[in-house]
Amino acid sequence: MSDSVIEEIKSRLDIVDIVKEYVKLEKVGANYRGLCPFHLEKTPSFFVSPSRQIWHCFGACGEGGDIFKFIMKIEGVEFSEALRILARKAGVELKKESSKIRTEKERLAEILEISCQFFETQLKKSRRGEEAIKYLLKRGVKEETINKWRLGYAPESWRGLSDFLVGRGYKREEIEKAGLSIKSPKSGKYYDRFRGRIIFPIFNLNSQVVAFGGRIFNNTSQESKEAKYINSPATVLYNKSKILYGLDKAKKAIREKDSCILVEGYMDAIMAHQAGVENAVATSGTALTEDHLRIIKRYSDNLFTAFDMDLAGGSATKRGIHMAQAMGFNIKVVLMPEGKDPADLVLTNPDKFKEAVEKAKSIHDFYFQDVVSGIDKNSLEGKKNISEIILPVIKRIPNKVEQAVWLKDLADFLEIREEALLEEMKKISLEDSQINRAEIDSLERKEEKSRKTRKEGLEEYLIILILKKPDLIDRIKENNYRFLSKKTIEILNFIKEKGSESLTKRIVYSKKEEESEKKEGDYLNNGLLELNDKVTYLLLKADIEEIEEKKIEEELENCLREIKKIFVKEKIENLSRSIKEAEKNGETEKAAVLLKELAEITKEENL
Ligand code: CTP
Ligand code: MN
Repeated sequence: MSDSVIEEIKSRLDIVDIVKEYVKLEKVGANYRGLCPFHLEKTPSFFVSPSRQIWHCFGACGEGGDIFKFIMKIEGVEFSEALRILARKAGVELKKESSKIRTEKERLAEILEISCQFFETQLKKSRRGEEAIKYLLKRGVKEETINKWRLGYAPESWRGLSDFLVGRGYKREEIEKAGLSIKSPKSGKYYDRFRGRIIFPIFNLNSQVVAFGGRIFNNTSQESKEAKYINSPATVLYNKSKILYGLDKAKKAIREKDSCILVEGYMDAIMAHQAGVENAVATSGTALTEDHLRIIKRYSDNLFTAFDMDLAGGSATKRGIHMAQAMGFNIKVVLMPEGKDPADLVLTNPDKFKEAVEKAKSIHDFYFQDVVSGIDKNSLEGKKNISEIILPVIKRIPNKVEQAVWLKDLADFLEIREEALLEEMKKISLEDSQINRAEIDSLERKEEKSRKTRKEGLEEYLIILILKKPDLIDRIKENNYRFLSKKTIEILNFIKEKGSESLTKRIVYSKKEEESEKKEGDYLNNGLLELNDKVTYLLLKADIEEIEEKKIEEELENCLREIKKIFVKEKIENLSRSIKEAEKNGETEKAAVLLKELAEITKEENL
């Protein structure tokens, strides 16, 4: 891949637009700021610079890069895939290089896309497919909805899809790896995973097919013994704990409405969208995970749940809600009529579902009005019962003020002293709070690693000053270089030779990418490898930090002097230690040499 294609793509796209598809951004000065999508945080420390076309997180994760790096990280893809995604957005055509060995992921993605087309054709062109369409129409799914969500039909046969794919040049092993077939342990033969089912393709954020769900329909007696749904297994492309069904189609609406509606099933998501509630997403055949929530949080802090809320019980749903609460989501509950799900509501009347969404209740009201409505709060047993349900919820509320309000309300509601409830609340242990603990631990570790020494901080400041006033670079003389770290020297030399503007072009990719990158050509500059986060950090910091123009020069001199002082001091300390060590070991000759060195450096200190 040549530099020119990358530059072409970059020139056609604006990083702010790209990032905005995933992160809520607000303008601050010349830059944009938002909550970092790569770690959990409450105050925004993620910056995007439109002038430099880079991003950087000044928070715990400390990462940064250009649009390519952003897509790689947020989509969890390799460079080549990020390139394809962005080329498509930019309308830049990539030359297919036949010699280029495509990655496993790319081939699997291709298989899934072709399979999706196969299922779509089967739905529209086969006799059983026609029945599937009839079934869908009966459930209120419109034809345009079928097309939009690319619903399909998997034929009854054992190897219909596999044989088709083999005919297209794919290997049976690959087809299995894509989750589309299963190898019989007995015969060693492969057979299709999805047979005789309506197919719901599952998409990633870029609307690329990564998995399928398959539903039986027209329950015949033998079919009813099977599971209603079968889903793709985990593959290199599909991790169900991280994929939300419909998010690719919902993300825009989630951002615009600043809320996300969580539903339970594929059908619910599809029907919600059809009814005009386009900010709905579903988990695909799994409980809500912390990863799901973190992804949603990129778009909005407001979460509506529209599923069977058996919050009094110990359901997985409840756990998900608790997690969301602990992560600081504002949660509202869409009350569904007994035994109905969103798809049912839309079928009878699309407005019914919309109304239900509009009337969604705060979790507070939901608990005080609905969850405990069947319990007699005047009986002792009832009071105990209610407090057992609500106290754990209160304990989880991260905001202390909010917590106090709930506690008071519960005391009033039950006509019990607050102190008694507080005592009781103390006894509750929250089993899933360890999730957050783990998160905090890992962030703290990261922070520790990134804690800078004073000298490192000063060297960064030095570069920032140079970025602010590039002319001053000649003030840093060769004899200053020996006080500076290798990284600093590399960056300074780069600025000297190519100018600070080119620094952004030297943003390189993760180590894992090194190999494939090298093959792709000279986009990588080996000299600055691994300086990625540092470069974006410095560039953005230079943009954000305000330093009086007049002062820059003076600051630079001070900075150099300080760096030298620290260098000399450390050197003296090290030498003294080594001398002591040498003397202790009777290495007199070595000690003498070191001593001389010490004398020289001490002289320098007084310079
Ligand atoms: N699910 C699953 N496997 C099953 C049953 C359910 O993976 N055997 C998942 C599917 O993702 C499904 C969701 O759980 O969409 C919700 O299940 P359910 O409410 O039973 O299905 P619906 O999507 O509502 O489908 P339908 O309305 O057609 O019954
Ligand atoms: Mn349903």
